[in-house]
Amino acid sequence: MAEKKFYDLTPAERLQQLGDLSGLTPEEREALSGAGGLNLEQANHMIENVVGIYGLPLGIARNFLINEREVPVPMVVEEPSIVAGASFMARLARPAGGFCAHTSAPEMIGQIQLLEVADVHLARHLILEQKERLLAEASDVDPMLKKLGGGARDLQVRIIEESPIGPFLVIHLIYDVRDAMGANAVNTAVERLAPWIETITGGRVLLRILSNLADRRLARAACTIHTAGLAVESFSGEQVRDNIIAAWAFAAADPYRAATHNKGIMNGIDAVALATGNDWRAIEAGAHAYASRSGRYTSLSHWGKDTDGNLVGTLEMPLAAGTVGGATRVHPTARAALKLMGVTTAAQLAEVMVSVGLAQNLAALRALATEGIQRGHMSLHARQVAIAAGAAGEMVDRLALQLVNENVVRVDRAIEILNEWRGGSTHA
Ligand code: MEV
Repeated sequence: MAEKKFYDLTPAERLQQLGDLSGLTPEEREALSGAGGLNLEQANHMIENVVGIYGLPLGIARNFLINEREVPVPMVVEEPSIVAGASFMARLARPAGGFCAHTSAPEMIGQIQLLEVADVHLARHLILEQKERLLAEASDVDPMLKKLGGGARDLQVRIIEESPIGPFLVIHLIYDVRDAMGANAVNTAVERLAPWIETITGGRVLLRILSNLADRRLARAACTIHTAGLAVESFSGEQVRDNIIAAWAFAAADPYRAATHNKGIMNGIDAVALATGNDWRAIEAGAHAYASRSGRYTSLSHWGKDTDGNLVGTLEMPLAAGTVGGATRVHPTARAALKLMGVTTAAQLAEVMVSVGLAQNLAALRALATEGIQRGHMSLHARQVAIAAGAAGEMVDRLALQLVNENVVRVDRAIEILNEWRGGSTHA
């Protein structure tokens, strides 16, 4: 008998297959399945006023070959089609080698706002004169990070010439945070430097905080898609390729479209960020600020064709993701998710995320540039509607199919059908 496809297995069978491959312990399997994972005691220490734990589906995107390594990608997301779309595009990328991804140094920026200096240019000069001493002081705030090769790398002083309160100074502390997301280390470092800066300049420090525009911590991914793999129904591979490029050009030229285009990229990236306990708001903020860096909001990705006519895609964006510290360390599911992927460093995690973002972008563009997203989306959406109407077990798929066939994917109609099947009233 032919082996069942991953998609056709039950959640328990899928987990067993992956757990065996990744050598997950029973506790790690429980953490991923939802039977274990974060408990109330741990949750109560994570945030304030805890009353419970909120659940979301955790799916595994398949077929990802990233830097020649097979990576099952855990994704936490409530929207249908995302996991399937990423998996499908990862499959299309495989014949040309999958995704090639890399990251720059894990350097974050901490900002110090300096007010009330008599002369901003002189203050800038005085701070830069003390640069080495300030960098040494900043590095000392986290001896562990220093031991691992991280710490302060550079100090830059910017003059904000025009603002609603007039000119002031901003000091940027560039800090290598290694495998951490880095907010804690950077915030501690800029707070430590503040009194020194005041003494050196005679000014008053106000804000001391990390910048989420992490444009020195970039992740990049590229993939090549053979045109033949792109054909869908009446569309030839070449037509789909050219439509995808035209769809990308729309986002490149128009901020209204770029916002949605980039949202599609973030569908994939946020889902991996959530699965691994990362701060997805920070990643979101960085992504959209980076997309506006020219002064006009635009697409984060690029699509074009190579000399053989293949579709080629690239994505470059800030990715402040960590594998140590914060929820990544505390949350058992996040730890199991990292182990499942075989990811041990923040750079590897960012490489997975940026590859998934590129695949997700392609999934959306391919659907939009051919049959539109609603058809594929509707059959999955129909299952949610079926559940919302009260269907359970095998009834979910049966009811979803009926709704799609009728082309009426609405809860009121779903309740009506359920009642008809149960021999009851036809009214909700
Ligand atoms: C929906 O969550 C994401 C898309 O709108 C992205 C896009 O339009 O590129 C399909």
